[in-house]
Formats: sequence, structure tokens, C-alpha cells
Amino acid sequence: GKVAVLMGGSSAEREVSLTMSGPGVLKALQAQGVDAVAFDPSERELGELKALGVARCFIALHGRGGEDGTVQGALELLGIPYTGSGVMASAIAMDKVMTKKVWLADGLPTPRWVTLRPHEQQPERVRLVPDELGLPLFVKPPHEGSSMGASKVSGYSQMQEAVELAARFDSAVLCEEFIEGLELTCPLLGEGETAQALPVIQIEAPEGKYDYQNKYFTDVTQYHVGRLSEAQEQEIRALALAAYRSLGCRGWGRADLMLRKSDGRAFLLEMNTSPGMTSHSLVPISAKAAGISYEQLCLWLIAQARL
Ligand code: DAL
Ligand code: MG
Repeated sequence: GKVAVLMGGSSAEREVSLTMSGPGVLKALQAQGVDAVAFDPSERELGELKALGVARCFIALHGRGGEDGTVQGALELLGIPYTGSGVMASAIAMDKVMTKKVWLADGLPTPRWVTLRPHEQQPERVRLVPDELGLPLFVKPPHEGSSMGASKVSGYSQMQEAVELAARFDSAVLCEEFIEGLELTCPLLGEGETAQALPVIQIEAPEGKYDYQNKYFTDVTQYHVGRLSEAQEQEIRALALAAYRSLGCRGWGRADLMLRKSDGRAFLLEMNTSPGMTSHSLVPISAKAAGISYEQLCLWLIAQARL
């Protein structure tokens, strides 16, 4: 049957989806002979998918209104199978604070944090946060991706500005302990007991700045596969898999982690349930290292689509 590749949407990551992930997936499916069409949910009603005779959807949306369970819920109601996690796992993973709470409840390591709600964002309260978490620290909007609205804060004087920036994207603001060490990511495929981890990637961005620019638009970020010791590789994969299962993810996902330099301990930062599929993206790099091409990955994901 016909496949719709959902792209665009109205989140801050619209451009990433519409100009990179979406077209990449569409082209790959078409090249494999799949009858696939592009569908931008911010410009069209999802109900139109029925009239178009769409049998399955590949969700290539990022961020709110796409990766957060809302589109998944609409597709459930329409009865159209889709790629990736269901409503609940998508919704939890879109919220970095909720994600941390679930992981902590399951005994999984994640950096310490403070959530500032709107009434706690006055300068007096904000200035106390570095005393609790140390410096530097990260300030993030809990529901964004691609480093949108996120800042690394290295002094008390930068706190207020960082909180105001994050608050432009979200009402609550996540302040998170900074873990000094290696920035890692690990893709996951499948569901439950049969889910599997793909090779771990170490991300090396100039001056540790893996931001929006260095994620998509420059070629200065280096991606290393197979650089960890075998024991560390297995430990990170196992932790990423536990994190994926803990949230009830299915289809695919990508866990972002830090490996602390001082003691070699790993910490989970977040789970992406609709990972980037751009030419610079991490899941395709890792899959390739495992012998899975971008086209094969797209075909496998659409074959796994379900309600
Ligand atoms: N949020 C971006 C698309 C990613 O995680 O790849
Ligand atoms: Mg993310």
C-alpha cells in the first residue's frame, strides 16, 4: 500500500524535518520501489491520509506535534499504522524531566537536575541553582530537540539569560548538572526483549559545542564508531537498551549519554523517539557501521510500522 512520509510539522525543528530527514527518507523508500508520498502535517489535515489511500506512515517529524505522541494518537484514531514508539513512550521521551523521573524510578543513571517552573524563574531563585548543581551546568527547555534554546552556563551571571532563553520555548526550564567527559549516542531498534542496540558513536564537536549549527550545517563535528573499549561499548549498549525498555519505546530510538572522564560512569541524558535522518545524522552513521544502509533502515522501519 501507499506510504506517507510525515515531515515538517510546526515545532522548532520543522526545518530539520522538512528539508533534511523527510526528503532523505522519502527518496530512500522511493528508490526501493515503495509507493511513497510526502505529507506536511502543518499544512494539511491528517484526516486527508484516508482519502489519499495511505496504508502506513513513516514519521519523520521532530519535536512537539510529531515526536510527542500527538500525531501518534491521531494515527491511532485513524487506524493507520506508523513507525516508531506509541503515544505514551513518545510523550514521555519528549519531556526530558519526565524521562529522568522514569529512569530514576528504574534505577538508571541520569545527571542531577533542578526544574524551574514559571514562578521560580526570578533572579534570586535562579542564582541559587549553581550552588545546587555546580558549574558549569546546562539550561534546557525540557521539550525541545537539536539543542534549541539550550545553553551551557559557566558563571552565575549567565544564569538568568539562559533561563530566559529556555523559557521562550517552554514554560518550565530544566537545569542539569554538567558531566565532563565523552558525548555518546546509541541507536536502538525493535521492541521489548528482542530490541537491540546498534554501535555507539562518540561525538567530537569543536570546543564541545555540538549545537544546532554543528549538528546540521558544518562539517567540523567528528563521529567515531568503535573507539570505546569492548567492555565500555557493551556497557553503554546495555544501558541504552535498558533506558529504551524503561520508557516502553518501540520501532527505533536513540539514547544520548555522557561517559564521565573522572570515573568512567555513564549517564543518560535523553531518548529521541524520532531521531534525525539527515545526511549528518547519527542513527544512519551507526547503522552503516553495523552494515545496514540508509535504504535498508528505512525499509525495515516502515515494515515494522504498527498501531
Ligand atoms: N532531534 C534531532 C532530530 C535528533 O535527535 O536527531
Ligand atoms: Mg533530542
